[in-house]
Amino acid sequence: MKFLISILLLATISFANEMLAPKDYPTGEVGKLVKLGEDIVNNTDTHPLTKDFVGNKLQCKSCHLKGPDGKVGTGKGISSWVGTAAQFPAWSKREKTVQSLQDRSNNCFMRSMNGKRLIVDSKASMAIAAYITWLSEGTPIKMNEKGPWSTHNTKLYPKGVKHFKAIQKKATHENYLAGKDVYAKKCASCHGQNGEGIAVFPPLWGKDANGNWLSYNTGAGMSKLDKAASWVRSNMPLGQGGSLSDQEVADVVLFMNAQERAPFDLQKALLPKEEMGYYNSAVLEEKHTVESNFKSLGLDLQQIKTGK
Ligand code: HEC
Ligand code: HEC
Repeated sequence: MKFLISILLLATISFANEMLAPKDYPTGEVGKLVKLGEDIVNNTDTHPLTKDFVGNKLQCKSCHLKGPDGKVGTGKGISSWVGTAAQFPAWSKREKTVQSLQDRSNNCFMRSMNGKRLIVDSKASMAIAAYITWLSEGTPIKMNEKGPWSTHNTKLYPKGVKHFKAIQKKATHENYLAGKDVYAKKCASCHGQNGEGIAVFPPLWGKDANGNWLSYNTGAGMSKLDKAASWVRSNMPLGQGGSLSDQEVADVVLFMNAQERAPFDLQKALLPKEEMGYYNSAVLEEKHTVESNFKSLGLDLQQIKTGK
């Protein structure tokens, strides 16, 4: 297993130099759209074109991190957008259909942003696709039968997810306590004692004083223990991705994803059919809770949290 992790690490490091946005924006209307897309992915929860489609206090940049050029999605870890547009259309196991880049982004609205899918081909949806496509300029197009992830992520993400699943299936109450400790030492200074977020540091779970959900819901990739671990290992603590051991990552994610977050019910998350038009998915019923996400790895949430 150590061998596999060294390969993952090496692969991450060797991508480091490639991860930059192109130097110049396109000209004309396309250039305007790319800039609009960039504004939206930076300010998703407050931007006039998207705020009504967001149900938490996150932005796309909260998970699709900035790289050294300051552009959202050029961070070298898992969830980079460099090359992503060249991977679509791509098969999605979750929706059991071949998805477009716009479909994929809209699903992050409904899950990671705890909101609603944008109308495909609305200005905001098109602008986000234009921005991500700009970041992918120069990447050769490759048909993608396996998963809707970027060129870089298809190499790293599924392996990391599998690796963490094996570790997390064995989790006990002791791991929860160890995770709580890692959280207090390595995460709370930015994300808050209760996951509520501090200033520019985004919230990880829970509600605000008015009862509004703060972070991703239980249908998001990040709410799945193994997926979140793969992401956290690569990206957190901010600027020090890869510094925690696999066990520390597994434990801190066990703690983080055991806390309260919005339940996901696909039918409630979709806009009314007249408004939304066609929804490109063969899966039309899907529900998740914190408990069910734990159960999917054979874990009992109550037992993990209380030891009883
Ligand atoms: C809470 C974290 C989170 C937020 C916020 C988020 N995403 Fe994602 N996104 C992910 C994760 C994790 C994946 C990959 C794993 C998966 O499919 O479960 C992903 C995958 C994607 C992909 C597929 C390509 C890739 O990089 O793997 C696109 C496109 C995307 N997101 C767009 C968006 C857009 C647009 C927004 C803002 C509206 C957004 N995301 C907000 C976590 C997030
Ligand atoms: C130095 C500050 C800092 C530390 C320490 C830190 N983070 Fe983050 N984290 C951030 C920032 C900033 C973002 C969002 C990136 C952005 O907005 O540019 C983020 C994003 C996230 C996200 C996705 C967005 C969300 O709010 O759900 C998760 C999950 C996360 N961090 C988990 C962790 C965990 C777990 C630890 C501890 C192991 C940790 N972070 C430590 C600053 C930090």
